[in-house]
Amino acid sequence: MIPYEQQKIELRTQPKTWLITGVAGFIGSNLLETLLKLEQKVVGLDNFSTGFQHNLDEVQGLVTDAQWQRFHFLQGDIRDLATCHKACSGTDYILHQAALGSVPRSIEDPITTNENNISGFLNMLVAGRDAKVSRMVYAASSSTYGDHPDLPKVEDKIGNPLSPYAVTKLVNELYAQVFTRTYEFKTIGLRYFNIFGRRQDPDGAYAAVIPKWFAGLLQEDTVFINGDGETSRDFCYIDNCVQANLMAATANHPQAADQVYNVAFGQRTTLNELYAMIRERVAEKFPPAATASPVHRDFRAGDVRHSLADISKARELIGYAPEYSIESGLNEAAAWYIQKFTE
Ligand SMILES: NC(=O)c1ccc[n+]([C@@H]2O[C@H](COP(=O)([O-])OP(=O)(O)OC[C@H]3O[C@@H](n4cnc5c(N)ncnc54)[C@H](O)[C@@H]3O)[C@@H](O)[C@H]2O)c1
Repeated sequence: MIPYEQQKIELRTQPKTWLITGVAGFIGSNLLETLLKLEQKVVGLDNFSTGFQHNLDEVQGLVTDAQWQRFHFLQGDIRDLATCHKACSGTDYILHQAALGSVPRSIEDPITTNENNISGFLNMLVAGRDAKVSRMVYAASSSTYGDHPDLPKVEDKIGNPLSPYAVTKLVNELYAQVFTRTYEFKTIGLRYFNIFGRRQDPDGAYAAVIPKWFAGLLQEDTVFINGDGETSRDFCYIDNCVQANLMAATANHPQAADQVYNVAFGQRTTLNELYAMIRERVAEKFPPAATASPVHRDFRAGDVRHSLADISKARELIGYAPEYSIESGLNEAAAWYIQKFTE
């Protein structure tokens, strides 16, 4: 197995062309930053439905002019097949992130979620296949485990989906498998478990818990915990997720492709523990947060109670070795959110 550091050296010496869909979003913009710093050529596609120009601007400020010149942005929608064909042309690897996230959003509007996450995904498979792309790595989700009771979650044991969003992510996996069997198109699904870090959007009705709580504490707003706070998750820092994508795209283990992998850290944290960890970090720089306390409200429909990943399959077949724990990841995230809200 080639370790991540070695893989990065090989990429630098033999640059490739990558397509990142959802490039203006949280995970997409972080993939962009890393690939440009590795001297890669990147095509980015986004329709700005939940992504932002300011994410791209931030990346531009973090790379050299020469690196930024290797980035070509296409504003467009994966629901349009011609756009997908255009974006895939000449690409070695696809990192497909574009989708509408959020369980509650999908419960409120299942049709729009379906169009983006299933029809858009199918377009990307067709376009990637037609362009003879070496491999398409796509964002799958831990929501696919649904109501399966086992902990930790192992890739081949899934339950029934608990939301329209979870259905879309399961269908993605089924389509990817069929494209492998029918057209020999190579795909890898990464089941992300609560990814967090810089550039994750703290605003809006569907914001994820970590950015929402950083923003709430830094702005002295009420922070809500859904349920008793003993709900638990396997929170995973963004740099681990970026590593998983690069390793998945380039892994040369004979069984690496045409699989799905958990992408997490492999540790369970309750919401009550998470709140305490975030408050402690915010209070170091922003003392009013030290005495803040959360307000508990009802559990949210469609949420699973506990989540924890077994990451041994990704370790074994793609060489995934997460470098950030939740504690060290929260230190990084805290620095970014504190700067954002206090500058
Ligand atoms: N963040 C997590 O914890 C997490 C967990 C599991 C799965 N995922 C998946 O990871 C992927 C990226 O998530 P994220 O957290 O970066 O979300 P995000 O909302 O920040 O990024 C998604 C990006 O896709 C773009 N997009 C959406 N629909 C599009 C369309 N039809 N055409 C073109 N662009 C479109 C959005 O504008 C946005 O920039 C998604 O597929 C999401 O379902 C994320």
